Amino acid sequence: MNKVAREALFNQVRAWTLQAGALIREEIYKPRTIDTKSNPNDLVTEMDRAVEAFFADKINRYYKGHLLLGEEGYGDKEFDKNQTIWILDPIDGTMNFVHQKQNFAISIGIYNEGLGEIGFIYDVMNNNLYSAMRDGGAFKNDYKLPRLDEHKQLNQSIICLNHRWLMENKYYDHHVGQQLVRDARGTRTYGSAALEFAYIAEGALDVYVSMRLEPWDIAAGRIIVREVGGITTNLEGEEVGMLERSSVLTCNANLHSLLVNDYFSKVKK
Ligand code: IPD
Ligand code: CA
Ligand code: CA
Repeated sequence: MNKVAREALFNQVRAWTLQAGALIREEIYKPRTIDTKSNPNDLVTEMDRAVEAFFADKINRYYKGHLLLGEEGYGDKEFDKNQTIWILDPIDGTMNFVHQKQNFAISIGIYNEGLGEIGFIYDVMNNNLYSAMRDGGAFKNDYKLPRLDEHKQLNQSIICLNHRWLMENKYYDHHVGQQLVRDARGTRTYGSAALEFAYIAEGALDVYVSMRLEPWDIAAGRIIVREVGGITTNLEGEEVGMLERSSVLTCNANLHSLLVNDYFSKVKK
């Protein structure tokens, strides 16, 4: 995708993302229809579906030939990685959306021929739009985010992880999670992978780890984090495919090699 095409697409998607966010804000206190998906805590609402349908309609009408991978299934089912693919999480942090009415985001990553071209993470209730274009830097609204501090040590870092890391679980030896919590300066968890990526990009968090995320949880975030010099891989340090479900580690390059080598490489079950 050339620079002119990328910028035009960026401006259009930006406008639609702000529009979708404004619709969510207008309806935030209305009664919700809440369904469950894979388990009783895996929630979906009519708003998740409406936002995804909004983007699916725009792509069908204005970007024929582009493909959509959306969490709620309004998009395509088969993907040719050489095409332009929008990867959408219409509401990332649905549990927060339902329970807290805040701390959720619209997340859109656009890939062309396998390369991450454009990323948007919209913190709807705070009206903060995180964005990036490939090789164009990352932004929080109009503020260009500085590169991550490469010298930051683990004992100066805030780690973002959920509490499953501290309990016995089927993916990783939980002792590694406990050790990490001991070694870091502090821990946080927000319940929206997309926002957690955005906070890494702006330096509010230093490391984000997850045992299992879907492609739409990370599609935008890793494009934005890359633009400030951060690295995103699985917990073994390997690249994550654009359409794959995977564990995820995102942080600066120094912490990345420390965490892969000294913490995660040998603890997968
Ligand atoms: C969830 C959030 C959460 C993460 C889960 C995701 P959803 O996304 O990103 O932080 O821990 O794995 O499924 O279901 O709210 O879009
Ligand atoms: Ca999600
Ligand atoms: Ca979602």
